[in-house]
Amino acid sequence: MPEMRQSSLVVVANRLPIDDNQAPDGACEWRRSPGGLVSALHPLLRHTPATWVGWAGGTGTAPALPDVDGVRMHTVALSHDDLRDHYEGFANATLWPLYHDSVEQPQHHRRWWEAYQRVNQRFAEATSEVAEQGAVVWVQDYHLHLVPGQLRALRPDLRIGFFLHVPFPPPELFMQLPRRAELLRGMLGADLVGFQRAQAAHNFAQLVTKVLELPATDRRIGIDDRVVRIGAFPVSIDTAEMAALASRPDVAARARRLRQDLGDPRQVILSVDRMDYTKGIEQRLKAYSELLAGGDVKVRDTVLVQVAMPSRERVGQYQILRERIEREVGRINGEFGRVGEPAIHYLTRPFDRAELAALYRVADVMAVTPLRDGMNLVAKEYVAARVDDDGALLLSEFAGTAAELSQAYLVNPHDLEGLKQGLRAALRASPADVTERMRAMRAHLHRHDIRAWARSYLSALDETGTLVSRLTSTDDTVRVPRPATRAASAAHHAGG
Ligand code: ADP
Ligand code: F6P
Repeated sequence: MPEMRQSSLVVVANRLPIDDNQAPDGACEWRRSPGGLVSALHPLLRHTPATWVGWAGGTGTAPALPDVDGVRMHTVALSHDDLRDHYEGFANATLWPLYHDSVEQPQHHRRWWEAYQRVNQRFAEATSEVAEQGAVVWVQDYHLHLVPGQLRALRPDLRIGFFLHVPFPPPELFMQLPRRAELLRGMLGADLVGFQRAQAAHNFAQLVTKVLELPATDRRIGIDDRVVRIGAFPVSIDTAEMAALASRPDVAARARRLRQDLGDPRQVILSVDRMDYTKGIEQRLKAYSELLAGGDVKVRDTVLVQVAMPSRERVGQYQILRERIEREVGRINGEFGRVGEPAIHYLTRPFDRAELAALYRVADVMAVTPLRDGMNLVAKEYVAARVDDDGALLLSEFAGTAAELSQAYLVNPHDLEGLKQGLRAALRASPADVTERMRAMRAHLHRHDIRAWARSYLSALDETGTLVSRLTSTDDTVRVPRPATRAASAAHHAGG
């Protein structure tokens, strides 16, 4: 057996940054995995000698993956039952709805919990094999709450961080979980537990006091003979990279072509979401439809482009959501569209980064109106792409992003009239107002980019500071030559 290569930095996330995909011609290819976690971490780790432990998106034997931009991929295999009970079950039908205000009913099954424990243990063991003595291990998100505790039991020499990308709910919701004590104890295996918002850290401290009866403040928790630190570290994006992409002449030309293809409307409204019931897509469509019906918006003047990338497609609640959205888009287009002039351009395919940047550039109004969202990186990507300091961001108060981008046009997506009013305000805003707001948001994002996030988290985790300087340097000159194999295709799909 070949000797296992070990790293001083190991990132552990349910998904690897690339996943197996069937190309239209039937060929096998790797493409960038969906979602904010990969968007945040992939640019950060590029060219860092780290290992990423995760799942490659299929079932059965774990495929051996090439390095992606110098980062080693270490695959954890999931069986069909693991996928159903761990990923689709406990992670996405119990925890996900519970953590998002129970906007859909969380489901509880004992079999799912068994799978969650089993899969977390497998991730902990895989991590233990690839982490060198004293390594820093950074565990991500709600799929892996138990890994910090399991890993500490296997490897007490490691420095372990845990970061939750999604909201952490208030005690009255979390208390519904039959296995609440085990989940909290699992997270406390870490040296540092990070959240998107200070309120989440507060919720966690309250729960630890209540459920585990441990001494806790919003910054520190005592357990056994250790102190676990907790805090808020709002995740961000590679602002400079998105701005550079959006400034490219080919992207600007693509944006101009897109506008023509959309029929040269006076205004373009854009939404880009994973197809998820937390994203408020149905509420947004209803608001738009009422604006059309009331004559506030005219199809010839204004178009809505809704990108909704299918997600978690075998989970019942997601299937029902897709059917409802597609029925509503059909109804609105049937009622308000004309031949060659749909009211809504509805797109479900993945876009590469340059295409996304062109879409952001073409959008006069970006509507990001989730019912609840840990952060929402799409909103940040839009701001980063508006290199001319124009464009109005309509943003839900319930997205983590709203705490940072307070100059956006803020709305409560549960309030239909408020949502309509917000859309109207964004569409009719004066160029001076739009520019003033966008400038302030862009300045914020330039200071608070993904490197600033990593710096603040890792300097709290790794007091020696070695990792921080390695990971957050902006010097991108160390390029690892890639062989023209699957790795090249992977890098292409992962990096856009
Ligand atoms: P979540 O993590 O819940 O999916 P975020 O808004 O934080 O939500 O992150 C979504 C990420 O996925 C963003 O980086 C966005 O650019 C990307 N994304 C969303 N839709 C698409 C799509 N159709 N094609 C490619 N990337 C997409
Ligand atoms: O940001 C939340 C998150 O669940 C990430 O952990 C995940 O990578 C992303 O959304 C996409 O979801 P999934 O991995 O289920 O496709």
